[in-house]
Amino acid sequence: MSAAGEIKGMTPPDIRSRKGQTPLVCLTAYTTPVARLLDRHCDIVLVGDSVGMVLHGLSSTLGVTLDMMIMHGQAVRRGLEHALMVVDLPFGSYEESPEHAFGNAARVMGETGCSAVKIEGGETISETIRFLTARGVPVMAHVGLTPQAVNTFGGYRVQGRGADAERIRRDARAVTEAGAFSLVLEKIPEQLARQITADIDIPTIGIGASPACDGQILVSHDMLGLFTSFRPKFVKRYAELGEQAEAAIAAYATDVRNRHFPAVEHLYVNAFKAGDFT
Ligand code: KIV
Repeated sequence: MSAAGEIKGMTPPDIRSRKGQTPLVCLTAYTTPVARLLDRHCDIVLVGDSVGMVLHGLSSTLGVTLDMMIMHGQAVRRGLEHALMVVDLPFGSYEESPEHAFGNAARVMGETGCSAVKIEGGETISETIRFLTARGVPVMAHVGLTPQAVNTFGGYRVQGRGADAERIRRDARAVTEAGAFSLVLEKIPEQLARQITADIDIPTIGIGASPACDGQILVSHDMLGLFTSFRPKFVKRYAELGEQAEAAIAAYATDVRNRHFPAVEHLYVNAFKAGDFT
């Protein structure tokens, strides 16, 4: 907020109005320094529950808690001035009832300062989306491969192939009618993502979907090469920071073992005689 009380930076209505315009640039962040790097370049920064896998070493997103999302949300908030901040509601925090979802969404918004929450699911969760949006909680929806349903799907497979496409179309329409301001489409056939984008009037944000989507999102640790446990086909690596970091760590280890680090320029020395450090 500025002194006059108006909201600075991107808002959910700004994002909603970008339907069919220049594609929305979206990435995930979980820490202040990464949020600062993203802020100038992104329209939306998502504090995704992918944090459980890429930062905490969990094997799925199912073990992520509301407290983890709040802690990472607070860190990201400190790094953003421009981008819209969205926080994922984790597994178990919104499915039980619309009222339960509202309590948790209000806590996340109040304690992190985010402007919106993201929840996974289509038709089955649309009543909750309607309840939240009517009470001041902007919702980004997420259909297709919804990772919190990994056990129901039996893995991280492409969703919406063949006759299953109709289920994803219904999900997309249901969350749109319920008032979501944008929709993540994850790991579905390109043609289906294209049709849904043409069919609904809120921006679609693709991940493993289609260049026709109204925006794209990736997990920042995937695209930077910092998370290498597995690599879905939809990830384009824009850097190999993991490899660079490992080379730097190996060089440090060699320097320490050979007593090449610390060198004179890294020390607080009194006057010394030539030959003291040879
Ligand atoms: O948790 C996450 O990072 C996400 C994105 C992959 C869309 O949901």
